[in-house]
Amino acid sequence: MDGKALETEALAAIEAAASLDEVEAARLRFLGRKAELPQALRGVRDRESGMALNALRQKLETALDARRAQLERAELDRRLAEETVDVTLPGDDLPYGSLHPITQTRRMVEDVFVGLGYEVRDDREVETVEYNFDKLGFAPTHSSRSPRDTFFFGNGTVLRTETSPSQIHMLEEREPPIYMVSIGRVYRRDAITATRYPIFHQFEGLAVDEGITLADLKGTLLHVMRALFGPDRRVRFRTHYFPFTEPSIEPDVSCGICGGTGCRTCKFSGWIEMGGAGMVDPVVFDNVGVDPGVWSGFAFGCGLERTAQLRHDIPDIRALWEGDLRVLRQF
Ligand code: DAH
Repeated sequence: MDGKALETEALAAIEAAASLDEVEAARLRFLGRKAELPQALRGVRDRESGMALNALRQKLETALDARRAQLERAELDRRLAEETVDVTLPGDDLPYGSLHPITQTRRMVEDVFVGLGYEVRDDREVETVEYNFDKLGFAPTHSSRSPRDTFFFGNGTVLRTETSPSQIHMLEEREPPIYMVSIGRVYRRDAITATRYPIFHQFEGLAVDEGITLADLKGTLLHVMRALFGPDRRVRFRTHYFPFTEPSIEPDVSCGICGGTGCRTCKFSGWIEMGGAGMVDPVVFDNVGVDPGVWSGFAFGCGLERTAQLRHDIPDIRALWEGDLRVLRQF
């Protein structure tokens, strides 16, 4: 075997290998089991030529390793160059969600009342007849007690028809002075129309302190309506009846679409109904053990859907319950 010629040929082949596969092919060709050099090594008799052949084998192995490392390095360099990421490029847009208009309105209402020093609460939606009706002074014959109007569970519980039971919970839990707003879902057996839905939300205010008068209620509602609908709004009261307030009133807010001159939205009256309110009836105070000789208070309840509708000119309340992204994305 001509060691020198083999060395030249093998080193040239290794040097010429252009890929890892070709390096491996060269290894098999010169150092594989049947290759000339390993065969010669197996047949070696004397120490001298044994050492020479071993040295040659080592040389070739080193050359193979070096070439392999070279190619791997080149491949890495190529990929590093090709696959660079420009971190200063803008990323792909993520599809951001948004808060549901009812949630947005709820938070606005919370903000307004927190600004007035009221505390925010919510109560149970499955309420007892006692808290939903009895303690609020509903007469035994009141029409809301009918299963035509209200969802009954049969064991003295109902899906609450209003947030007013929160007044009772609050007054039983805590001594006045009390300034609270309770916000949450309520339920009524109404057919679904553009303006009614069997599930909706109310916000219920209650202020009980010494010397609270109807003027405080009027000022508070005026402030709230202006905070929700704009600084030019006016508020008026119409007399009404609620079992748990005396006197009872219904507040109207001036129509924001026509400015009070009359249009379709306000049914040409210039005013929009906002809910119910009044001075807390002494019967309610008696029912919760608060002395009406010392304390007085006002309460009010308004619909959150109605508030959202008026703020955003939403013509049909059903849009708030359908979860149609084409609608919701507009808020
Ligand atoms: N609970 C009444 C309703 O759902 C609204 C209401 C009226 C709430 C008078 C009050 C109030 O707090 O004082 O129709």
